[in-house]
Amino acid sequence: MSSSKLFTTFLFPLTLALLLQTSFGADPLFHFCSSSGNFTSYSPYETNLKTLINSLIYKTPSTGFGVGSVGQYQNQTAYGLTLCRGDVSASDCKTCVSEAAKEILNRCPYNKGGIIWYDNCMFKYLDNNFFGKIDNTNKFSMLNVQNVSDPAMFNYMTKELLSLLAYKASVSSKMYATGELKIGGGSEKIYGLTQCTRDLSNNDCKKCLDDAINQLPSCCDGKQGGRVVSGSCNVQYEIYPFVKE
Ligand SMILES: *[C@@H]1O[C@H](CO)[C@@H](O)[C@H](O)[C@H]1NC(C)=O
Ligand SMILES: *[C@@H]1O[C@H](CO)[C@@H](O)[C@H](O)[C@H]1NC(C)=O
Ligand SMILES: *[C@@H]1O[C@H](CO)[C@@H](O)[C@H](O)[C@H]1NC(C)=O
Repeated sequence: MSSSKLFTTFLFPLTLALLLQTSFGADPLFHFCSSSGNFTSYSPYETNLKTLINSLIYKTPSTGFGVGSVGQYQNQTAYGLTLCRGDVSASDCKTCVSEAAKEILNRCPYNKGGIIWYDNCMFKYLDNNFFGKIDNTNKFSMLNVQNVSDPAMFNYMTKELLSLLAYKASVSSKMYATGELKIGGGSEKIYGLTQCTRDLSNNDCKKCLDDAINQLPSCCDGKQGGRVVSGSCNVQYEIYPFVKE
């Protein structure tokens, strides 16, 4: 039973870290500032962007997703999109989206575009219309550095689980799916999550998720946890339950 003891040993610090992070305010996972150009203070773009951001903060929590644009002329229009993780409550979604907006404006003060991710949400804006297109530019991965004991079997099971969840997310109205799979003969499981931004078509959601799953071997081969996250979709797996039911 040494393997289940190992599991418990690592489960506790992870859970604790998660709880501490939640109660003291979460840090962003990652961000990018766009290179599409800068705006100046008091420009029409700045005004439109601020209006857009406030409207997204207001409208996202009820459904966990927001999309919109503000601007009279093409060259001054700001386009924005927000997404909360599928299991996040409306109030946690609101907290996350508000914090994300503040933080991305701090980190990319004059950029016409930016994107920031947290565990609970994502916030993206840009000076051109990116809706309905798979974002292949803004992407990152994360991993749990701990190795699994049987990488070949574990990688195979992880791919099985996430591929099923990719399909489920792509045909669900929230474009979000979670699930778990028992590994080996014991009580250990893999827990998975897939989610797309709801501006994508069902086919593009599936494609985005499948591409992300195919990148897991290069970031997270044989690791106990991993994520591939982009501006359009994300996949995550862990050996402990990490979503709220
Ligand atoms: C945009 O502003 C940043 C500082 O916020 C600066 O480093 C960058 O050179 C500017 N880019 C352009 C194209 O002016
Ligand atoms: C944006 O478009 C408007 C209307 O077409 C034009 O009057 C304005 O000069 C343009 N601004 C810039 C910065 O190109
Ligand atoms: C995981 O395995 C790799 C390659 O076998 C090794 O280099 C690394 O130190 C291991 N990491 C941990 C945390 O045990």
